Amino acid sequence: MLSYQHAYHAGNFADVHKHLTLFAIIDHLLRKKSAVTYIDTHAGRGLYPLAAEETARLGEYREGIDRLWQARALLGNAPLLDDWLAAVERVQARSDRLDHYPGSPWWLSDRLRAQDSLMLFELHPGEHGYLARQVMPDNVQRIHSDGLQGLVKRLPVATPRLCVLVDPSYERKAEYGQVAKAVLEAMRRARHAVVLVWYPLLPAGHHHELLEELRVGGLRKIWRSELRLREAAESERGMVGSGMLVINPPWGLESRLEAAMRQVTPLLGATCRYRSDWWVGE
Ligand SMILES: C[S@@+](CC[C@H](N)C(=O)[O-])C[C@H]1O[C@@H](n2cnc3c(N)ncnc32)[C@H](O)[C@@H]1O
Repeated sequence: MLSYQHAYHAGNFADVHKHLTLFAIIDHLLRKKSAVTYIDTHAGRGLYPLAAEETARLGEYREGIDRLWQARALLGNAPLLDDWLAAVERVQARSDRLDHYPGSPWWLSDRLRAQDSLMLFELHPGEHGYLARQVMPDNVQRIHSDGLQGLVKRLPVATPRLCVLVDPSYERKAEYGQVAKAVLEAMRRARHAVVLVWYPLLPAGHHHELLEELRVGGLRKIWRSELRLREAAESERGMVGSGMLVINPPWGLESRLEAAMRQVTPLLGATCRYRSDWWVGE
């Protein structure tokens, strides 16, 4: 059963972490002319009006994108963050007011070149319906089916380069293992792919299973980036942080993102902490 809807969480601190990482990776990939296939295994709606009932109800964006939006004039020298915020500005109805937040399909399609292609998988019929109504270039396919199975089936791809975002809702604990299995199989079929895997930091620590399975599965070059809002209080069950693994990160990505995250972290609160390291080296 699919009950998760990203609209309740759009623009929160985890989206900021995830989409800034995605934006930086796309930036690096665009430095070369050769074509890229992008695959988003769990796409969601694509664009989120902040006044929508679901998004306004929890208002999580107020502790996420809104903090950066309010601070954007005061950031000083912040090359990556400035570019990212300028992109966020482009989806607003008015440039002086934050009223929309772009999801991963928007980030991936925004700078898609004629030689590139993008596959967006979304299993939830309602969410896929929203996605299907977004205006997107012709080289974007919106596929209403399971993203992990779809990813594996479509590999290898015809283009010289491949970039994959795996961003499930982890509604079921079994998903951590399923993600690990699909990523290992995808890497067997496309060894040079750049793969981003998002995971929540929960007090229960379910993500350790995912990280460990990728490590023992024999993958190399896995960079880990984690943004923790606070230490979990006793008996707390909700998400306290956001994690990203980047397999085969483009050269120079880590230092650029670390610099941007050092500027983002204090804006998200006094207890917020960032760390990055190599989960598995060369
Ligand atoms: C965390 S949200 C994705 C957010 C999106 N990647 C973004 O950054 O804007 C997860 C999405 O995956 C969808 N979903 C859940 N299981 C799926 C599956 N097996 N295959 C494809 N999509 C799935 C959910 O309906 C939900 O829209």
